[in-house]
Amino acid sequence: MQVGVRREQCAGERRVAATPETVQQLTALGLQLVVEGGAGTAAGYSDEAFAAAGATVVPELPYERLDVLLHVRPLTPETAARLRTGSITVGFGSPASELPAVRALADAGVTSFALELVPRISRAQSMDALSSQSLVSGYRAVLEAALRYPRFFPLYMTAAGTIPPARVLVLGAGVAGLQAIGTAKRLGARVSANDIRTASADEVASMGGTFIRLDLDAPEGTGGYARELGEDRAKRQRALLAPHVAAADVLITTAAIPGRAAPLLVTLDMVAGMRAGSVVVDLAAESGGNVEGVKAGQDLQIAVAGGFVTLVGLRDAASAMPSDASRLFAKNVANLLALMTADGEVSPDFDDDVVAGACLTHAGTVRHAATASAMEALK
Ligand code: NAI
Repeated sequence: MQVGVRREQCAGERRVAATPETVQQLTALGLQLVVEGGAGTAAGYSDEAFAAAGATVVPELPYERLDVLLHVRPLTPETAARLRTGSITVGFGSPASELPAVRALADAGVTSFALELVPRISRAQSMDALSSQSLVSGYRAVLEAALRYPRFFPLYMTAAGTIPPARVLVLGAGVAGLQAIGTAKRLGARVSANDIRTASADEVASMGGTFIRLDLDAPEGTGGYARELGEDRAKRQRALLAPHVAAADVLITTAAIPGRAAPLLVTLDMVAGMRAGSVVVDLAAESGGNVEGVKAGQDLQIAVAGGFVTLVGLRDAASAMPSDASRLFAKNVANLLALMTADGEVSPDFDDDVVAGACLTHAGTVRHAATASAMEALK
C-alpha cells in the first residue's frame, strides 16, 4: 500500500508527519512510503535521508492514488476532495474548528483518523500527539519568556551582589503546564502553579512547583480533563489569582477545556498589577487566550507603573522546535498506523477502542459523536 507524507502547506508550519526513522518502521511493516519533496526540510530531515531510509521522494504527492496520507495540520476541504474513496488519513483534524474539512472527508468516503481523538489510556500513550506536542510547547513557552525577561531566572550570589531568582507562575498544569514548571525549575526559577483539577496538585509538586490552592469548589470533569467553570466561579478564580499574578515576574498560561474557547484567567487589570519588565506568555492564544487582549503571534507591551509588561501570544509553539516536535509526532502517527497494519495492509479494526476512538470519518459518515452533533446543529 502507498503511504504519502505531505509537505505541509500552512504558513509557519515546519513539522512533518514522518521521519526517516518512522519510514523505516513503516517500510518494515510492508508499506511503501512516498514523501513529497522538501516535506522534512524545515524540520531538518532531508529528501536524501528519507530516500536512504527507503522512501520514494516525489515532487508532488499523487493524492488521487494514495492508500494512506500522513499529515500534521488538518487537511483543507480541497485536499480532502482529492482523496480517493476508501483511502485513510492520519494527522491532526481539529474536528471542533474544521467542520467543512470534516464534511469534505466524509463526502469523499475517506477513513480519517484525528490524533486529538486518540483515547488517553495507557495503551495509546505512544500515539498521543496532544501530549507529545504539548511537551514541546510547554518547554518552548519558558524559553520564549526567558529571552524576553530582562533579568536572570536563577539565583546568583556574586562578588558584585546577589540576584534573586525569578518568580514564575504557571496557570493550567496539564502536559504543557507541567513541562513549563519543570523547565522553569531547571533554569533556576522559583515556580508556583494553579489548576482547577485537584489531582494536579501532586503533579505540580513532583515537578518541583508549589501548588496554589484556591477555594473554588470546581466541578470535576471526566477522563482526567477539567470542566468549564461557570461565570461566577471564573470571576472568583480571577479575584483569587490576582495577588499571585501581581507577585509573579513571569506568568505562563496554558489552561484549556477540550472543544471550548480557552478560559479567561487574567484580565488586563491583573496584568497592570505586575511589575515593569515582567513577561506573560499565553500558550492558549490561538484558542482565544487565557489573558485578556492577547493576540496570537504578537508581542504586546502593556503599560504599567514604571514601564511595561510584555504580553506574548504564542503561536505554533511546537512548530518552532520542528525537529524534535516532528520526531515525536511522527512516532505517534507511525504507532497508530502500525496498530492498524498487518501483512502490509492497513485495515482498521473498529473493535479496537483506540482505532474506533480516533476515527473521525468512515464510509461517508462522521463517526465522532460530538463532531457529528456540532455538524447537525449547523444545518
Ligand atoms: P488541556 O490542554 O486540555 O488543558 C490544560 C490544563 O488546563 C488542564 O490541566 C486543565 O485542568 C487546566 N485548566 C482548565 N481550565 C482551567 C482554569 N480555569 N484554571 C486553571 N487551569 C485550568 O489538558 P492536557 O494537558 O491535555 O491534560 C489534561 C489531562 O489529561 C491531565 O489530567 C493529564 O494528566 C491527562 N492526560 C492523560 C494521559 C494518559 O492517560 N494517557 C495523557 C496526557 C494527559
